[in-house]
This record gives sequence, structure tokens and C-alpha cells, in this order.
Amino acid sequence: MQLKNDLLIRAAKGEVVERTPVWLMRQAGRILPEYRAVRNSLSGFKELVETPEFAAEVTIQPVDILDVDAAIIFSDILVVPEAMGCTYEMIEKRGPLFPKTIRTEEDLKTLRVADPHEHLNYVLEAIKVTKRALNGRVPLIGFAGAPWTILAYMVEGSGSKTFSHARGMLYTNPRLAHQLLRMITDTTIAYLKAQVEAGANLIQIFDSWAGILSPAHYREFALPYISEICDAINEVPVTVFAKGAFFALEDFSKLNCETIGLDWNMQIAKSRQEIGPNKTLQGNMDPCLLYSSFETIERETKNMLKEFGPHRHIANLGHGVYPDTDPEKVKCFIQTVKEYGSVIRS
Ligand code: CP3
Repeated sequence: MQLKNDLLIRAAKGEVVERTPVWLMRQAGRILPEYRAVRNSLSGFKELVETPEFAAEVTIQPVDILDVDAAIIFSDILVVPEAMGCTYEMIEKRGPLFPKTIRTEEDLKTLRVADPHEHLNYVLEAIKVTKRALNGRVPLIGFAGAPWTILAYMVEGSGSKTFSHARGMLYTNPRLAHQLLRMITDTTIAYLKAQVEAGANLIQIFDSWAGILSPAHYREFALPYISEICDAINEVPVTVFAKGAFFALEDFSKLNCETIGLDWNMQIAKSRQEIGPNKTLQGNMDPCLLYSSFETIERETKNMLKEFGPHRHIANLGHGVYPDTDPEKVKCFIQTVKEYGSVIRS
């Protein structure tokens, strides 16, 4: 199926595009009343994620309502630990909880390398249903968590400010950490390949907890596995977004991927220099900008576009949009990119 709007894909590949493409991390979700309506008609988050028709519906909502240049499949990075044998619960207002954690060799024995067609088929179905409904309007982004971030949740058992159990394991039992990372990586590669087969046009890897590791630990426990995933996914462009990993940008220049996501702590010019000319950059507005006035949003968005320049940029926030953001402010960010993102070319 030919894409009608393929700006995202062309920008990722480094082709010259007529304007900067834009989408938002966490665009499908609680900022939209339409999402909350679907979600509230169901038993909870997991039912939404696991029912392909509903997942497809909320995936497409931001394309209709916000006019973004891409859809991202509605799912979660935590479906991977679940497929491996570590189920999660999503607790209202508190976030994920894993009744069983992985902290010993015995715990590890209870896990499997998951077969995506057997254990994650609901995501693959959701991708197929979404693709049919999108009918080529915009590309569909598939995703997974990076192995380190997935390990962090499996070992910690919930969100955490410090992830001290997970980080602790890297010192106390590095062998176990590597064994777990191996299983997560193998599962993730098979899962992402299946997403591409099902119709995903681009893959993003979220390393949300990259920034809590030392550079040395990042190089030992995170980068090699991300690198392996990038080497394995060659069918579509790949984006690596490692929140807080400013210390690894030079390493990222060597990854076999098309795009690197920046958060708002990362300086645009400096990042471009460290990553080099052969990758597209994605980002990187502070999501809190969207709490300010329309005038401020316009001004700051234009400044961001100027700093990135017209080529090899995909406009986005530096992390997911916060749930209490006014959708009108989100639209202002998107419209500013759409208007000014072609002006900077002339
Ligand atoms: O629009 C999209 O971006 C697609 C959907 C998506 C979700 N989660 C839906 C979701 C994506 C890409 C994710 C990725 C994800 N999940 C990450 C990586 C990105 C990041 O934010 O760093 C992480 C770390 C998770 C784990 C996770 N899922 C947490 C910590 C939480 C609770 C905190 C929160 O935001 O509520 C979730 C729940 C979750 N995942 C929600 C949504 C829409 C909110 C649940 C609800 O609707 O009640």
C-alpha cells in the first residue's frame, strides 16, 4: 500500500522533504477526551491494549483530531515482559505493577523467550486492523522498549525514582543481568520483525531509563543490545530514543539506525555535532511548553525548528505529552510545525 503522506519515512531516510514532519510521543492517550471515553467503556487499560479493534480506534484518534504525520500503535512496552512470563497490572493513577519480579537465577528460570505470533498476537492484529483503517493516510509506527528499560521494570517490579534494585543488579549479579538482557533482546527482535511483517512502517525503540545509568554501565548493559536490535531490523527505518543519554550520543552515531530521539536536556547543535550528519534527529521540545500561552508555544516551536534546520529533523516533544495538556495547545504545536516547517526552507 502506497503511503499518501510519507514525510516521516523520507525524513528518517535523510531525503529532502517539503516540510518537517511532526508527531508526538504518547499522542494516543489521556490528553484526548475521545480516548478517555473508549477507555472508560472498558474494564481498564489492558483490555484496551489487548482488543485490536479498540486499540486501532485510539491509535487513529490523534491522526483525525490532531492532524499528526504518523500514527503510533496503541500498546505498551510492558507487553514484552508479560509475553516472557512476567504479567503486569496497570494501577489507576499509580502506573505499572509486576506481582512477580526477576531478581535471582530461580526467577529467571520462570521466563521464556516469547514467540510474538503466540504471545503477542493481539498487537500484531491491532497493527493489521489499524493499517486497513488508515488506508495509507500516514505511516504507522511500531515500537518496543529497549532491553535495559524492560529489565528495569522486570527487576524493580514497578516504576521507581531510582530503580535501585535494577541498577543494583548490574553490580551484584552482572551475569544474571546479561542473561535477562539476552532473553529480552531475542524476544524484542522477533517481536519487532513481526510488527514490521504486520505492517509497521517505522520502528521506535524507547530507552526511557537510559539516563539513570553511568556511561560505563550504559555501554556495557544497554548499547550492545540496542545495537543488535538495530542490526536485525533492516526492513524499515529505526529510531532510537534514549531519554537522558546525552553521554552516549557519539556512540549512537555508530548505530545501524536512521533516527536518534533527543530529549529537551540535549542541546540541538551539540547533539547534531556528536551524532554526525548521517542520522535524522527527532524531538525535542519540553512537554511543559504546552502549558504556556499559544503565543509562547508558537515562538518556542519556531525557535526549535530554526535550530534543527530544515533537513534530517522530525519534530516531536522531548518525551511523552503530559496527560493534563490541553489538546488545543497540542494542536498549536503541530500547526506551527506544519506552517513554519515549510517556511524555513525558502
Ligand atoms: O501514543 C503513544 O505513544 C502509544 C502508546 C504508548 C503507551 N505507552 C500507552 C500508555 C506508548 C508508546 C507507551 C510506551 C511506554 N510505556 C513507555 C516508553 C515511553 C516513555 O514514556 O518513556 C514506558 C516507560 C511505558 C510504561 C508505562 N505505561 C508507564 C510507566 C505507565 C504509567 C504512567 C502513565 O503514563 O500513565 C504506562 C501506562 C500507559 N501506557 C498509559 C498509556 C496511554 C496510561 C494508562 C491509562 O490510559 O490509564
